[in-house]
Parts: sequence; structure tokens; C-alpha cells
Amino acid sequence: MHPEHTAARYDRIAQWWQTQHQASLYGIPQLERAIQFTLKKQLALDIGCGSSGRFIKVLSKHGFQVEGLDISSEMIDLAKQLHPSITFYRADICCWNPPLKLYSLIVAWDSTFHLPLDMQEPVTKKLCDALEPGGVLMFTCGGGHRGGEISGTFQGQDFEYSTLGVNAFLKILDERQCTCLHLEYEQYPENHVYIIAQKT
Ligand SMILES: C[S@@+](CC[C@H](N)C(=O)[O-])C[C@H]1O[C@@H](n2cnc3c(N)ncnc32)[C@H](O)[C@@H]1O
Repeated sequence: MHPEHTAARYDRIAQWWQTQHQASLYGIPQLERAIQFTLKKQLALDIGCGSSGRFIKVLSKHGFQVEGLDISSEMIDLAKQLHPSITFYRADICCWNPPLKLYSLIVAWDSTFHLPLDMQEPVTKKLCDALEPGGVLMFTCGGGHRGGEISGTFQGQDFEYSTLGVNAFLKILDERQCTCLHLEYEQYPENHVYIIAQKT
């Protein structure tokens, strides 16, 4: 599915997402774990931040200067209303070029798993390259050994998901001088993995 089609579907559920997830703890202990590995708490980027800004709130509390990025304009507009002082980018992470600055922490929680399969590798490389030395990347992906694409329905909307498989993600991280610090099937038996890696 083209990212703009994913955006149109999230536009339709952006208000629901904000109401449902504003106080949600889903992914928050994992975010706290990633934060523990950071050496500096300067710039942080939340990719696919959604409309609730729930990760942004935690990152700000820890002293990061936070930016949010999302392809859905409805998600971004609603997030801005809750967090008027935060810099938001309305962008597709596939096409987005990081500004001339490096990040202490980049988070992509349940967002890059929507990318077309052929964009997984270039986007993962781009995120690794946008980290400062010692910078930390946390992202979720489909687990298993093989790459592939699946579709599913969520809140009445059809979505597509893709993964390279865990070994291929680890290989890219290694090639981009990032070391895996934590990998967990945290919803086992669901095939949902989160990875924390650090730039050496
Ligand atoms: C499942 S929601 C997760 C939202 C947020 N991370 C959270 O956990 O509350 C996925 C988000 O990723 C965004 N997204 C999907 N594909 C994207 C892309 N190519 N570039 C940027 N954002 C994207 C969607 O618009 C949506 O807001």
C-alpha cells in the first residue's frame, strides 16, 4: 500500500486515536527502556507520532527537545493542538530528509511497519544515519526469519504491514554501525518485535 493511502486511513481514525491513546501505556515501558540507554538527552524524533503525543509527553518529561513526524495531516493537526510548542513534520518517512542535525533518540513505534516492503531497508538505514554517536533507535517490526507483507483491518480500515524479518533488520543495523541492545517479542505469541539499537 502506498504511504499516502495509509495516511488517508489514519486521517479517518485520528480523532478516535487521540481519545483512545492519550493515556495509554502501550509501548511506554519500552520507551523508558530505550531512554535508559541514551548517553545524551538532546534531540529526539517520534516517527509516526499519531495524534495523542503520548511518546512526546514522556520524552519531554525526560528533558529531550522533541520533534514529531507523521504522514497523516489529521494526526499532526490534532497532536499540534495538544502540544503547541513542539515541532511537527507532516511527512512520509520514506521521502523525509532529516534536517542537518543528529538525534540522541529516534522512536518509530508501530509506524514503519506500515512501509512498503522495498522501503524498509532504505528507511532503516536513514534512521541509523540520523543518530549522533551513542544515539539510540527504537522501532517495532514484524518478527520471524523471513520478509513479507500482510494485510489486516483495524477500526474498520484496511492496512498493510511489511517486515524484512529480524535477521535482515539486525544486518542493516550492523552495517550502519548500530549495535542491538534489546530485542523482544513483547506480545508473544503475537509476531510483534521491538528493537533497541545504539550507534557506536
Ligand atoms: C499505529 S499508529 C501509531 C501512533 C503512535 N506511534 C502511537 O503509538 O501512539 C501509526 C502511525 O504511523 C503513521 N505512519 C504510517 N506510515 C507512515 C509513513 N510512511 N511516514 C510517517 N508516518 C507514518 C500513521 O499516520 C499513524 O499515525
